[in-house]
Amino acid sequence: MADQKAELTIGKEKYEFPIHQASVGPDVINIGTLYKNTNRFTFDPGFTSTAACESAITYIDGDAGVLLHRGYPIDQLAEEGDFLETCYLLLYGDLPNKEQRADFNERVTYHTMIHDQMTRLYSGFRRDAHPMAVMVGVVGALSAFYHDSTDITDEKQRMIASLRMIAKMPTIAAMAYKYSVGQPFVYPRNDLGYAANFLHMCFAVPSEEYKIDPVLARAMDRIFILHADHEQNASTSTVRLAGSSGANPFACVAAGIACLWGPAHGGANEAALTMLNEIGTPDRIPEFIKRAKDKSDPFRLMGFGHRVYKNYDPRAKIMQKTTHEVLGVLGIKDDPILDVAIELEKIALEDEYFVERGLYPNIDFYSGITLKALGFPTDMFTVLFSLARTVGWIAQWKEMIEDPKQKIGRPRQLYTGPTQRDYVPVDKR
Ligand code: SDX
Repeated sequence: MADQKAELTIGKEKYEFPIHQASVGPDVINIGTLYKNTNRFTFDPGFTSTAACESAITYIDGDAGVLLHRGYPIDQLAEEGDFLETCYLLLYGDLPNKEQRADFNERVTYHTMIHDQMTRLYSGFRRDAHPMAVMVGVVGALSAFYHDSTDITDEKQRMIASLRMIAKMPTIAAMAYKYSVGQPFVYPRNDLGYAANFLHMCFAVPSEEYKIDPVLARAMDRIFILHADHEQNASTSTVRLAGSSGANPFACVAAGIACLWGPAHGGANEAALTMLNEIGTPDRIPEFIKRAKDKSDPFRLMGFGHRVYKNYDPRAKIMQKTTHEVLGVLGIKDDPILDVAIELEKIALEDEYFVERGLYPNIDFYSGITLKALGFPTDMFTVLFSLARTVGWIAQWKEMIEDPKQKIGRPRQLYTGPTQRDYVPVDKR
């Protein structure tokens, strides 16, 4: 169907802009000629109504609480699939058949080790450094060790770099954890699945065999699936913008990790558990709900609200189910923090302030409780988010690099600073 047109009238002048159709969700008005024709910019800080790119990877319907990866609903992928086949889906566009799946899994498995000289980078950090600081540093340094896969114009190098990122993130993340607790690094093992290998690298110690509970490994794998990709969120947009200048993929992922760290974004899982611990008991919930509604108080309910979801985040539902599974397997009958979380959710969802603003629990609300039960310290939660999101960042970066229309991202501005004025010598100021 031919593109529809949008009309804009400024004074006596009329301007037309083509409307491009989406396969599902909002169409877009292409305003690429706006500045040339009207000498004006659009203005949309925070990009609440702006599509920065065309993508075929992930679709979110915030009102219906729907999340599709290449058309497959997140709940089906999380229940029936596994993380590596989700990686394949995000990267290549379809679920792998048996041979493709085996080949992809093997290629990832044989890239899990990192250059041994990189282990020295860790000793440059204080033991009590936040592990996200270590992740930004070590991942950014990957290009210093793997410069044979940094030529982004070479498809083969792009794929090797993608595999290396997906394969090495668990190793780098586990080493950041081991370094923080003063335990020796544990090398990856090729006989373990992706999530089991990660748990082994985190929690095994040389002095005894680490027994991996398959239910916990499955829960870890599912948590990775839930965090894999999420359309053009802040950190993905950071990776795309960094990549648009031709920066190598390792540097782009390091930029994504830095952005994800913020408490308004991926850092919310750490902040949500800290908040739940601060609330401590259900009777203190009303005090925090009051603070969350008080405009003079910067406090917000961490793990609540979302730029796109104005309904329940479908990932939060699956995360809540996983929380109960993990606590059950671990025999944690009554986790007081889980009781606070469930009561807080109940009260908030009955409060008109939250209901009229469409503020529901997001993926970060329950993830912290699960990750804590799995044995991770709070400051590792966002590291796990960055581990899982690496495939989303890489898939979106690859899609951008392979788009023939791609050009460097360079937004403009509404300038409200001083107009031109002459320099004043210091003795005349
Ligand atoms: C992630 O983008 C993604 O896709 C991100 C993510 C992904 O997978 O990549 O889903 C991961 O980052 C999830 C979000 C994690 N962040 C948090 O849980 C932090 C707490 N949430 C808020 O900071 C906030 O909800 C945001 C940042 C998530 C969204 O903010 P928006 O879209 O800019 O919304 P807003 O700030 O304009 O809020 C609209 C209204 C405001 O009140 P009014 O001005 O209308 O009176 O809702 C209020 C806000 O004050 N509000 C909250 C609130 N979130 C929004 N009030 C209390 N507590 C909150 N959590």
